[in-house]
Amino acid sequence: MSHHSSPRPLRSRAGSALHGRIRVPGDKSVSHRSLMFGALALGRTTVTGLLEGEDVLNTAGAMRAAGARIEKTADGTWLIDGVGLGNLMEPDHVIDFGNAGTGVRLTMGIFGTHPIAATFVGDASLSRRPMGRVLDPLRLMGTQVVARVGDRLPLSIRGAEVPLPITYRVPMPSAQVKSAVLLAGLNTPGETTVIEPIATRDHTEKMMAGFGADISVTIDDAGARIIRLKGQPDLKAQAIDVPGDPSSAAFPIVAALITPGSDITVENVLLNEHRTGLITTLIEMGGDITIENERMAGGERVGDIRVVYSKLKGVAVPASRAPSMIDEYPVLAIAAAFAEGDTYMPGLDELRVKESDRLAAVARGLEVNGIPCREGETELTVTGGANRKGGGTVATHLDHRIAMSFLVLGMASDTAVTVDDGAVIATSFPTFTSLFTGLGADISELEDVGA
Ligand code: S3P
Repeated sequence: MSHHSSPRPLRSRAGSALHGRIRVPGDKSVSHRSLMFGALALGRTTVTGLLEGEDVLNTAGAMRAAGARIEKTADGTWLIDGVGLGNLMEPDHVIDFGNAGTGVRLTMGIFGTHPIAATFVGDASLSRRPMGRVLDPLRLMGTQVVARVGDRLPLSIRGAEVPLPITYRVPMPSAQVKSAVLLAGLNTPGETTVIEPIATRDHTEKMMAGFGADISVTIDDAGARIIRLKGQPDLKAQAIDVPGDPSSAAFPIVAALITPGSDITVENVLLNEHRTGLITTLIEMGGDITIENERMAGGERVGDIRVVYSKLKGVAVPASRAPSMIDEYPVLAIAAAFAEGDTYMPGLDELRVKESDRLAAVARGLEVNGIPCREGETELTVTGGANRKGGGTVATHLDHRIAMSFLVLGMASDTAVTVDDGAVIATSFPTFTSLFTGLGADISELEDVGA
């Protein structure tokens, strides 16, 4: 499968200082899960603030293929008429998840314990990513899998007729793996237990409880989270208001920190403690970031984030912080390019298996823009300084966060930065260019990268 839109090179050059108040689109993790839980619940779930990016729309397509009715009203509210746990229909077509790792992995968990067969495909990026990390525990629960060697897409599954509850220790810090097992546990009789040695984002646990499942979390002596789920609950439809995505807010936050004279506020951002590692790190680097109007909404902490241009200094980011900022390393590397001294980022194993090999993609992107860095097997060091060159063309490898990060670099570098494909940004942040242009950035489309 190829990406549906053709590559669209974009170029970003230093414009004016960034000013204004903006809202970024809804959180991607919560948006996927809203559609999934809505499909599994009985009754009508309503969702406002849903991220209408390609990844999430692909999940909507998958849930429709399994029988849920999903539509958007004229005022922008999404309505999901769920089929009820255990009642999923067998899709009558191949399910194309495009670029969406979260979408396909969590859906495999849901379908894996329903007695239905399904075939999943994705774009070139998704077809390179490992699916065994989700399929292995599902096989233990009784899911049958037909996949090529190495468990990559395209692949087919037949869900278990009589699913078995398991106790599963997640071998890598991955909310997707944890979530796939828990979602599979929903339609499994008995108790499914997931042991998570290193905490990752907990939206699945919180939303399961919110939809009425009996789920508990305890911490053992070694600090691991023990998550116990009682299978076959009655899930009840909910009203969900999705807060802004901190992983999208990361781009204007870093852009304002490095663009002289900037002062912006990103309103209504999700501040779940498993998602705020970047903010902690940027404050340690000397970033002038304040959280205003902090409040609780739908069981999550949200707030407005005010960011003022700052002189940054390099830091060593603790490896233990990686799960709470796993999607933010590419844009942290851009902030690091403007910081005095070295920024050291260890514990980045998981970056190798994201939408691209993000460790390599970031290092190559920095290099073509004349920014010194050292790429280790699982770590990255960026040497910052006052003179930021730019002028390079960055290969994005179908990775939205690589594209957005290097466009942010161009906003403050000495010469413009080009990314070979900005079309992929639509997967998670379709309003990226218009929001940034409104703040004062200068982003333009190119006919081709040679232009
Ligand atoms: C996500 C979990 C993370 C993250 C992804 C969204 C989720 O992946 O990178 O963008 O919604 O559960 P891993 O859990 O595989 O690290």
